[in-house]
Amino acid sequence: MTEQAPIKVDMEKIVSLCRRRGFIFPSSEIYGGLSSCWDYGPLGVELKRNIKEAWWRAVVQERDDMVGLDASILMHPQIWEASGHLKGFADPLVECKSCHLRWRSDELENSNCPSCGGELTESRLFNLMFKTFIGPVEDEASVVYLRPETAQGIFVNFQNVVNTTRKRLPFGIAQIGKAFRNEITTGNFIFRSREFEQMEIEFFIKPVTDKEWFNYWLEERLNWYVKLGIKRENLRLRQHTKEELAHYARECYDIDYLFPMGWSELEGIANRGDFDLVQHASVSGKSLDYFDEESKEHFLPYIIEPSAGVDRSTLAFLCDAYDEELEDGETRVLLHFHPTLAPIKVAVLPLSRQEKPVTVAKQIYTDLRQQWMVSYDDAQSIGRRYRRQDEIGTPFCVTVDFQSLEDEQATIRERDTMNQIRVPIVDLKTTLQAKLEGESLFILPPGGSIWKVEREER
Ligand code: GAP
Repeated sequence: MTEQAPIKVDMEKIVSLCRRRGFIFPSSEIYGGLSSCWDYGPLGVELKRNIKEAWWRAVVQERDDMVGLDASILMHPQIWEASGHLKGFADPLVECKSCHLRWRSDELENSNCPSCGGELTESRLFNLMFKTFIGPVEDEASVVYLRPETAQGIFVNFQNVVNTTRKRLPFGIAQIGKAFRNEITTGNFIFRSREFEQMEIEFFIKPVTDKEWFNYWLEERLNWYVKLGIKRENLRLRQHTKEELAHYARECYDIDYLFPMGWSELEGIANRGDFDLVQHASVSGKSLDYFDEESKEHFLPYIIEPSAGVDRSTLAFLCDAYDEELEDGETRVLLHFHPTLAPIKVAVLPLSRQEKPVTVAKQIYTDLRQQWMVSYDDAQSIGRRYRRQDEIGTPFCVTVDFQSLEDEQATIRERDTMNQIRVPIVDLKTTLQAKLEGESLFILPPGGSIWKVEREER
């Protein structure tokens, strides 16, 4: 967290909405919770899945120069020796001699305990990796670590991928997976936790092309957030100073987002040079050289690494989408999610619980859910049902009324504008598809009409 910024939405509102509507719960809640661990509920899991799918689509599916990987979380302990994590992945820790709370000394503003003002111990380095044992014997020889980043699984599979895919430089390997860090201080909801997910790319290049590819990935990654709806003014690039650079990095920029607590890192983009391949070749004793057929040379590629956090992205998309509108003295809370990310794409709402409209609405629901996550809601007034869907960011509601039984049309209502159109039921799927892909609400299928509503009933 670097500088104070104007607050748009406070974190309490986001935490409360997430809790209330089933996006995110504190972990192990019935046992009093487990510090800084979080469970994604029915809507949160959809949102997170959509973020990961959008990332995978952009960086793997739509590219010729990228492949995916899913490496195991537990890896050979020598990997962490080679990567530098055993020695260097540590934060300076101090403990209060009175209340025994522990703090990161580099984050303290003065030399006393921020909680009780007590005297602090000397600072010592605390390694952030979680240790466990592999197999039934708990001794030094069976120690393994929960990975603190997914990246190392990619480096140690570099040769496997080259040999099996025949990929030639430049190319990248992408991976999404859990990472674990025994952070000394956590907080700001899902921003910093001890168990989290990363979406990492290791992009292997010829060393002389590193500047060009570094700039390419800065732009590419920044644009990804903007395309998915994050406001450009809430994003910035921040270059790491020499003192801040990680041991492996030649150059690094953070993509910062203007979170409620101020500008903070969303994603890091680093030029790792050949640090990792040199280290793994040296510690494993296996050659990780790449043979370039054009120049007939053997060399170790450089690596550009865009490394994003799934949970931080989730928090950023939630904060950026959050909005409140005052309507007739009441507050309409809404999440302006990009349709790609919205947990529920369409809600089907019958205006009556009588058999005939319900049968039609259920048919529509059954049909649409073949394609998307769709919800069905017939409880309470239509106004309240719209508000419920607005609050979880559902882009479209489809209502079925008595007139639908006669004219075989249904109404599509848009979340952001509350505009409505009347569409033949047979065209609902294609119309919604077009609208979810970004077409204006008022483009109608043949036979459709703009529905006149004076005011939404509450
Ligand atoms: N392989 C490089 C690497 O791990 P990092 O900057 O330490 O770099 C990358 O982490 C991203 O992972 C961060 O930008 C952030 O989004 C996410 N991340 C890191 N630590 C986290 C934590 N404790 N809780 C949630 N997300 C975290």
